[in-house]
Amino acid sequence: MSALVIKGATAYAAGLPTQGRPGDVVVVDGVVTDLDAAAVPRNADVIDADGLVLLPGLVDIHTHLREPGREDAETIASGSAAAAVGGFTAVLAMANTTPVTDTAEAAERILDLGRSVGLVDVQPIGAVTHDLAGQQLAELGLMHRSRAQVRVFSDDGHCVGDARLMRRALEYIRSFGGVISQHSQDPSLAGPSACCHEGELSGRLGLPGWPAAAESVVIARDAQLARHTGSRVHVAHVSTAEGVEVIRWAKARGIPITAEATPHHLALTVEQVRTYDPVFKVNPPLRPIEDVEAVRAALADGTIDAVATDHAPHARHDKEHAFVDAAFGMLGLETALAVVAHVMVEGGPFGWADVARVMSSAPAAIAGLPGHGRPIAPGEPANLVLIDPAASRTVDRDTSMSLSRNNPWHGRTFAAGVYATILRGRVTAREGVPTSC
Ligand code: DOR
Repeated sequence: MSALVIKGATAYAAGLPTQGRPGDVVVVDGVVTDLDAAAVPRNADVIDADGLVLLPGLVDIHTHLREPGREDAETIASGSAAAAVGGFTAVLAMANTTPVTDTAEAAERILDLGRSVGLVDVQPIGAVTHDLAGQQLAELGLMHRSRAQVRVFSDDGHCVGDARLMRRALEYIRSFGGVISQHSQDPSLAGPSACCHEGELSGRLGLPGWPAAAESVVIARDAQLARHTGSRVHVAHVSTAEGVEVIRWAKARGIPITAEATPHHLALTVEQVRTYDPVFKVNPPLRPIEDVEAVRAALADGTIDAVATDHAPHARHDKEHAFVDAAFGMLGLETALAVVAHVMVEGGPFGWADVARVMSSAPAAIAGLPGHGRPIAPGEPANLVLIDPAASRTVDRDTSMSLSRNNPWHGRTFAAGVYATILRGRVTAREGVPTSC
């Protein structure tokens, strides 16, 4: 029998009589058994969590783990370590690997690799189209019926541009309650060399950009297809005020649509691009402050349901180029909680219960992940994160668990940080160090 007691943390999750007040949580064999340390089993490990915040473990529905194919940028092991250090107990691995996760076998392989590492539950996302080519549907049903039980499908990095194919995919996945996470970006509006937000600044800097409308026109189309098919669409990494407006419109009509925002679209603006530093090149691009504020407001009012990292590791030889030539994407797993706390809790309208909602229960519900984002209550799996709201840590890209160094937060100091992550009662990371399994 293994037993753990978390003493004195202030917890924010459904099911806790001590919600918002210090209390104790007893975990036996991976399950919460008691909310009173009087019932502590002998030989229990004890975490003195005085002053710490306890939430259900974080869930990231948008992670790039790069394995198979680009193990020079990330592996399932290194990405799992980054996730555990970042407070995550579950991550969904995007399909744009080499080969693409577009078959049942490929999905099962990722599931098995994740299990063999054991630091975080790795759930594969299946591609919508074969080889992400946007021409024919991938093995959606077989991926769902496989051991990986794929429920989320995405061509992320590419938009499913063909409306007829998107309609067919939505019709197909409706039978098993799947969802398509769409990279909403009209390919004809975002030309091949576009590398940033199109606006006055891109003109001044001489960088080709793409307009906000490239995002909102696809969200509008997909909302109509979701309404027509009665099947679920999820909007990945919303970055524009126009996109938010369309999602708000669709939700008001009961259309089955959900959305996520990334920490970087909540905290960074297009002004970063002035430096021409390719670490700030990301897709969708960083936007003007008006868009950032609209995304924050949408997360606060529930128009945007969840935070997702879009953790996108890249090897130096792909990222360290002139801005136009560099790969799109930035790291996010290890810093997501600190950035969200900075923007939405310290400088915004959120309490910790809201963080639990947007970083745990809502993403777990979108992905249909059993055992994650659950109340902290007897009988529930002990998937938990302990946060130190006064950790005051400076981000150092060279101490990252990721194999990549494209960290846009390098040198920034954040007040809050993850203290420990607990997966089914086992501490998977503590004070920035993953535990071996
Ligand atoms: O910046 C990005 N990087 N956006 C994406 O959609 C894909 C991702 C990647 O795979 O690198």
